[in-house]
Amino acid sequence: MAGSVWGTVLTMTTWGESHGKGLGVTVDGCPAGLLLCEDDIQKYLDRRKPGQSRFTTARQEGDRVEILSGVFEGRTTGTPVSMIVRNTDQRSHDYSAIMDVYRPGHADYTFDEKYGFRDYRGGGRSSGRETIGRVAAGAVAAKLLAELGVSVMAYTRSIGPVTVSEERFDPAQAAGNRLCMPDAEAAAEAERYLDGLMAAGDSAGGIVECVVRGLPAGVGEPVFEKLDARLAHAVMSIGAVKGVEIGDGFAAAGSAGSRNNDSFRGGTPAENADSDASEGGAGGISGNCAKNSPAGELEARKGIHKATNHAGGILGGLSDGDEIVLRAAFKPTPSIARPQQTVNRGGGNVEIEIKGRHDPVIVPRAVVVVEAMCAFTIADMMLLNMSSKLENVKKIYC
Ligand SMILES: Cc1cc2nc3c(=O)[nH]c(=O)nc-3n(C[C@H](O)[C@H](O)[C@H](O)COP(=O)(O)O)c2cc1C
Repeated sequence: MAGSVWGTVLTMTTWGESHGKGLGVTVDGCPAGLLLCEDDIQKYLDRRKPGQSRFTTARQEGDRVEILSGVFEGRTTGTPVSMIVRNTDQRSHDYSAIMDVYRPGHADYTFDEKYGFRDYRGGGRSSGRETIGRVAAGAVAAKLLAELGVSVMAYTRSIGPVTVSEERFDPAQAAGNRLCMPDAEAAAEAERYLDGLMAAGDSAGGIVECVVRGLPAGVGEPVFEKLDARLAHAVMSIGAVKGVEIGDGFAAAGSAGSRNNDSFRGGTPAENADSDASEGGAGGISGNCAKNSPAGELEARKGIHKATNHAGGILGGLSDGDEIVLRAAFKPTPSIARPQQTVNRGGGNVEIEIKGRHDPVIVPRAVVVVEAMCAFTIADMMLLNMSSKLENVKKIYC
């Protein structure tokens, strides 16, 4: 199967199926010398592990990672970093009843049409478990980004009709509650909403928001490899994602140029606090970008920032030094505990009831997947950006 590789300089190749022996990833292009151990990866994998609350599938998997290569004496060696997670709780017989039937909302029909072969055990490669490799690779990228002063944080923005409130926004809550919502009140309301759906054998969708901080201006490659295009591709490739927006996204279409344009300002955001506030709040500082400016302009350019951030931190496909804000819309979990109308492989109409263990909502477990794909893509684009200026290339070779 082609299509299992992501990245240009920093690449990940994911492999494995939901009910095979295991899943994993090979990360290539990671610079040598990065401190890395299995605990660094495990912390990320534990955030997407099943069986942690009544809102995630009851499948019990330890999802313990083993690093097979590319790390020696606690540091990356510059060679491929291979990681494996073995499956231990497959119960493939749960799926024998649907081996000749196409589940609505799943990839069964399209995989069968494409390959003429179907791994009916939990969707095989199209399963949510495929994201294990992405998360492990994202953990490596996040460590690399931390060395460069860049952080990536995702959380649940909404579940069904319940959205976090900006007034109550508390990042600590995102790590503290089962739904990864940075608003305790919204999380409690979303739990009640999910309980109602589960009682009715139904499922919910929602939105994951991801914020990237500390990225200097100028990262991204015109014209087909724009940063927003790469991020959208990376996040859209996650199962069940049906939409990606950056900054004001679809709402920008209903705005006016005078409201949507983010004014540029010189000086620090603090110096401009009054005027910035009147334009809707201070944007980020284009911090590290000044490091690449000619010496005379350096001090003045240091302070360039935007008064607002409708653009979501990307202009012309390049980072503008502000926070990057991305949102991913997840559809409701396709496997629901209700009779559904479908067809069998022969095209006959049948009714199915899906057995097995499924997330009533995908979003809380997908938060770390979005974060991982964004971190990996940003790290790759940062490495790619290193040769954009002669002075940067000379720093390495002269
Ligand atoms: C982390 C994660 C977990 C998922 N868990 C489930 C699940 O338990 N049950 C289910 O029906 N779909 C689950 N999915 C979604 C399906 O894999 C996906 O909807 C399906 O393969 C069809 O692909 P599409 O929605 O991208 O078209 C999950 C997806 C992700 C990213």
